[in-house]
Amino acid sequence: MAENKNILTGDRPTGPLHLGHFVGSLANRVKLQDTHKQYVMIADMQALTDHADEPELIKSSVLEVALDYLSIGIDPKKTVIFIQSLIPAISELTMYYLNLVTWNRLKHNPTVKVEIRQKGFKDQVPAGFMIYPISQAADITAFKAKYVPVGDDQIPMIEQTVEIVRKFNRTYNTSALVEPETISPAIARLPGIDGQAKMSKTLNNAIYLSDPKEVVEKKVKKMYTDPNHLRIEDPGKVEGNPVFTYLDAFDPDKEKLQSMKDHYQRGGLGDMVVKKRLLEVLEKFLSPIRKKRKEYEKDKTAVLQMLKKGTDQANLVANQTLKEVKQAMGIVY
Ligand code: TRP
Repeated sequence: MAENKNILTGDRPTGPLHLGHFVGSLANRVKLQDTHKQYVMIADMQALTDHADEPELIKSSVLEVALDYLSIGIDPKKTVIFIQSLIPAISELTMYYLNLVTWNRLKHNPTVKVEIRQKGFKDQVPAGFMIYPISQAADITAFKAKYVPVGDDQIPMIEQTVEIVRKFNRTYNTSALVEPETISPAIARLPGIDGQAKMSKTLNNAIYLSDPKEVVEKKVKKMYTDPNHLRIEDPGKVEGNPVFTYLDAFDPDKEKLQSMKDHYQRGGLGDMVVKKRLLEVLEKFLSPIRKKRKEYEKDKTAVLQMLKKGTDQANLVANQTLKEVKQAMGIVY
């Protein structure tokens, strides 16, 4: 059998994608599609787990996310792009895996814990939200993914998937399911423009791939820097300063960046100058993406058709896995 080089990743469509998505996973996907068999899922069912009352938002965001993918260079000729809710096998696999995970284990998933706090669920956590790591394991295993390129906040999901795979294969004495591993990004995570640890829509601290120039300008201007860097002549801190983290991620001129960092740390370099450089760098990155997006936006029917085609391909693969899973469990009638 050929070496398994399957990749599965995805995003929740709750709005357009932002720079954090790019750094965490999208950048890797653009690269890996040339060497791997890549599946990219628009996880609309997972998005509903914390947006049950906003199905219209999810639906419109599916197209936004697809446009984001295309404009950054995820190529449907190389990558299968599809919609989660159109893959029934994922839901079925989820039902079987649910029995292999304890409630207590779910309660201790670190990412779920953080998100429950951020979303302010308190004791009103939707059951579907609580179990989404299991449905994410179904996403990954349905495509026998060996690799999952994601940001570090998703590592607990991959760990839980590995546990489910092992438990399944052991319980049913099979090797039907594949243990996935994470492919980590160059920069573990991008902070928000407010300096919080993670850029996210929920925290309202994101720069979107589709933000127009004026909006990016505004956001960069009000970015959090080193709060103790009050006067230009003061020495400033580079670590934990999101302006520099963004430059690390997006500035191709590493030499210039290093000399800026040195200058900032010595004192004498103002935030305004660093932000001006960041804006320049971001514009260089974003303007071709915006341009491509405009092109794809002209023919939304073609984008939806592309998704439909991807979904058909994805169903073939997921249905085959489901069949093997049921065979392994001996529930074939
Ligand atoms: N949980 C991921 C996120 O919030 C999205 C996602 C859903 C995913 N299914 C996946 C990521 C499978 C990787 C693999 O960004």
